[in-house]
Amino acid sequence: MNGKYLENTYEEWKASRYAKEGRACQSCHMPDRRHLWRGVHDEPTMRGGVTMRASDPVRAGPAIQASLEVRNTGTGHRFPTYVTPKVIAEIFQSDRAGKMLRGTLRQYVIARVVSADLSTEISDTRLAPDEAATFDYLETIHPNAVSLTYRMRVEPDAFYAGLFESLLAGGPAVRGEKMIRTALAASLRSGFTFNEERRPLPGQEAGIQPRRVTVVGADRQYSQIKGHSPRGKE
Ligand code: HEC
Repeated sequence: MNGKYLENTYEEWKASRYAKEGRACQSCHMPDRRHLWRGVHDEPTMRGGVTMRASDPVRAGPAIQASLEVRNTGTGHRFPTYVTPKVIAEIFQSDRAGKMLRGTLRQYVIARVVSADLSTEISDTRLAPDEAATFDYLETIHPNAVSLTYRMRVEPDAFYAGLFESLLAGGPAVRGEKMIRTALAASLRSGFTFNEERRPLPGQEAGIQPRRVTVVGADRQYSQIKGHSPRGKE
């Protein structure tokens, strides 16, 4: 597909420092030789896969500005693996109770997106071992905002969710519709937050003008979903 194999995990690992350091797949996936393969559905494993580095938020006129660096520091291959999961880096303003304030959310998708029939790659923004991407935040300050929250979420079964949705879009008389709906609900429920950090908003600093930080991540285009609430539970 687009000159790339669908599953390239072994080759990615072989080219990484982990192979040179002699860290095999089992060293991460079966620690202490427990016979349990830990992966994308496991919160500690996901948290250990990447490192989040949040900048302190800065007030710039009517806006709040910040950035979030996400680096693949603990995954021996591209993060996330395969085409099924979707990782979402999110920055939003929160109120005194830590709740997300409407209209302040910015999201960046880290995933390999392919068509439902697997024939075409739409985009690949995954991070190779030790690679980083920096996401920017620049939004008008919400009157109730007291802090900025940086968060990483994963929808481990995003590809299946998309597949089920495209099947259901086939019309009202789709065969096995009830089963597909049940499967869709289950794949949406599997999403969870694996890393979160909150920083207080500073007082007004004089002379700082709003400025757009560039999104850096090799030469890829990160898709942004702005002002849109993520699927599943909040
Ligand atoms: C340095 C640690 C590390 C090494 C070495 C490593 N992995 Fe991983 N792997 C991870 C982490 C962290 C995740 C979870 C994040 C993700 O999905 O990318 C993961 C996820 C996966 C997944 C997805 C699992 C799921 O639940 O769907 C597969 C499959 C996988 N790795 C295979 C391999 C194979 C095969 C090797 C060896 C060639 C390997 N890994 C080496 C850390 C590692």
